[in-house]
Amino acid sequence: MNLYTLQSLSKDYGEGDSLVRALRNVNLEIPSGKFVVILGASGSGKSTLLNMLGCMDNPTSGRIFFEGTDITSYNKRQMTQFRKTTIGFVFQSYNLLPDLSAIENVEISTEMAGLSRKDAEYALALVGLSERAGHFPGQLSGGEQQRVSIARAIAKRPRVLLCDEPTGALDFETGIKILEVIKQIHMEQGTSVLLVTHSQEIAKIADIVIRMRSGEIISVTGNAEPVEPCEVVW
Ligand SMILES: Nc1ncnc2c1ncn2[C@@H]1O[C@H](COP(=O)(O)OP(=O)(O)OP(=O)(O)O)[C@@H](O)[C@H]1O
Ligand SMILES: [Mg+2]
Repeated sequence: MNLYTLQSLSKDYGEGDSLVRALRNVNLEIPSGKFVVILGASGSGKSTLLNMLGCMDNPTSGRIFFEGTDITSYNKRQMTQFRKTTIGFVFQSYNLLPDLSAIENVEISTEMAGLSRKDAEYALALVGLSERAGHFPGQLSGGEQQRVSIARAIAKRPRVLLCDEPTGALDFETGIKILEVIKQIHMEQGTSVLLVTHSQEIAKIADIVIRMRSGEIISVTGNAEPVEPCEVVW
């Protein structure tokens, strides 16, 4: 069974003169257990698509099936539950709470999913930040903050990790390390990854590359020989 099946998915923002057609009749099948990159220029609809897949927002029309279940029929409560238990989000801007330590930021996620502090500690160890557990976001580098946000996303062992430009705010070296962490989690935990980028080079690490332009999917390409993050140049 596919991880996701999208049928005639459209998303409009605004109306009248300010109408933006961010997704236009998208049809797509995404298999389980893959590392998928969504590639496209600014404004092509990548974040909009990711938000729909993560049940952050409702489409204007069309359907999204997750493992065969129509998640576009969910009410608000079901959408929240789906986000809490099934999806891990990583954003360009980390979105950590500044007044909570690294471990406390991760525990927000584990508590919502009904898991223990041990699960939060395990996630922080997976991203190599155990010794920084008591540090606050302001005391951590950008790369370390992003690793905390990855720990927060994976601590609940989500079925899917949705990453929106996770290296966008980082320098080259740090970006590579973040991609390595995400790849390692994908390999070790079997988590499906959907990662948004505008970088053709980063796209080379994917099993499947979905190209977008002006709200449409222009190609879906399998990559028989994905490169390791450490081989990426940009
Ligand atoms: N909340 C919103 N209200 C109105 N228009 C929006 C909203 N969010 C996105 N858009 C518009 O929808 C289109 C797609 O935006 P989206 O953020 O999905 O693009 P993107 O591919 O993620 O771009 P970027 O690489 O710059 O992040 C753009 O034209 C954008 O201006
Ligand atoms: Mg975006």
